[in-house]
Amino acid sequence: MSDKSIEVCILAAGKGSRMHSQRPKVLHQFAGRPLLFHLLRTVKACGLSRVHVVIGQEAEQVKSAFPEEDVNWVMQEKRLGTGHAVVQATEHFAPDSRVIILLGDAPLITSTTLEALVGLECDLGVLSVDMIEPFNYGRIVRDATGNVSAIVEERDATEEQKAIKEINTGCMIATSSLLQKWLSSLDNDNDQGEYLLTDIVAIAAKSGCRVSAHKASEAIEVTGINTFEQLAALEREHQLKNAREFMDRGVHIIDPNRFDLRGELTVGKDVVIDVNVILEGKVEIADGATIGPNCVITDSKIGQDSVIKANSVIEETTIDNGCRVGPFARLRPGTHLKSESAVGNFVEVKKSTLGEGTKASHLSYLGDSTIGRSVNIGAGTITCNYDGVNKFETHIKDHVFVGSNTALVAPVTIGEGSSIGAGSTITSNVDDNVLAVSRTRQKTITQWKRPKKR
Ligand code: UD1
Ligand code: CA
Repeated sequence: MSDKSIEVCILAAGKGSRMHSQRPKVLHQFAGRPLLFHLLRTVKACGLSRVHVVIGQEAEQVKSAFPEEDVNWVMQEKRLGTGHAVVQATEHFAPDSRVIILLGDAPLITSTTLEALVGLECDLGVLSVDMIEPFNYGRIVRDATGNVSAIVEERDATEEQKAIKEINTGCMIATSSLLQKWLSSLDNDNDQGEYLLTDIVAIAAKSGCRVSAHKASEAIEVTGINTFEQLAALEREHQLKNAREFMDRGVHIIDPNRFDLRGELTVGKDVVIDVNVILEGKVEIADGATIGPNCVITDSKIGQDSVIKANSVIEETTIDNGCRVGPFARLRPGTHLKSESAVGNFVEVKKSTLGEGTKASHLSYLGDSTIGRSVNIGAGTITCNYDGVNKFETHIKDHVFVGSNTALVAPVTIGEGSSIGAGSTITSNVDDNVLAVSRTRQKTITQWKRPKKR
């Protein structure tokens, strides 16, 4: 559907007053991204490239949230209603075009539905859906022959009209020239005192234009967000749908109600994801891997059969096959765990590589370091990588044994096969196959008297 003759007009100038927030409504996070992001992604995926976004009061905030986006930002200085919002963009529409109007606060429309709208043969097409609880939505009014004759906003509706279950999703398609004509005859004689886009339906129908409606298959894809409660409800419904799709493909999600994907997940077979896991950005999980409860994984790869135990936080990290991480591990950007390596509880790793079979099992900080294979990092080992101004690197070669509570003052290199005595502070390089130890010799004072209370 890469149709150059289709203009897309997204209405996003609303303040979201029902959220009582300083932040424009379309920037609130939904599945880890701003509401507007989802809509723009779907539109672009359909090959629709002429996109106009009507923005208002916090316009700069909205624009700067999408610095790379190739869209035409249109200002609506005063928020006088959805009809008035569309008017602001009309000068940018090509004469023979058709215009798709979308609402910035409904993030989940699908490309299938957009294509169906484009396929409607009409002067004005309205996307509707049946809702069990249609409260607050505009109702689709049909005449005796079943043709769409008007949309009535709930606050302007009669009791009889309020009982209608078919609602206006807010998405429409119209011939550009006719749309401009209808818009020019809008008035603000309604309960809101606004120029309502929905009023063009009655205008078009009365003038004998062809008005039709297409029903979306699922309410979830057209649900609009006005409050944080609605945002949370739609997020949960969307996440549940995500979880079901992954379960259908063979992922063992322990509780689909506690699954949160805030980005894109690529996942293999026999993967287990326990409760309250948050996956952000681009995450890849290979066959047989297990993610324990309460883990947060961002932009990372988890290798085959690796086990991530509870409460681990992993960011921009590559974990190869058969690794063990956590519980309570923190892997920061630039970490690479090679196969069969292990990082245990209360270990923080940053910009470091751990070689094959290497273990740092307890209470350590490893930063800016390159660690070889089969190394044992004792509990409480710290790479002192920072002098207050500059960062320095630590190199630990294969088969090194670092005793507990060691401070490795970078830049420093520990040679292959060497051992470091527990409690050492290592400030200079250590040769291969030696023992380095730096601490005062233990002494015994036999006459020592403990101080007494005065
Ligand atoms: C609107 C529809 C309603 C429909 C519902 C679907 C109208 C009059 N009503 O109601 O029939 O059932 O959506 O979710 O169209 N906006 C502007 N400028 C304005 C006013 C609004 O850009 O002057 C934008 C808002 O940012 C929002 C969208 O238009 O993204 C819809 O506005 P909103 O106030 O949320 O309309 P609803 O009351 O939800
Ligand atoms: Ca709305």
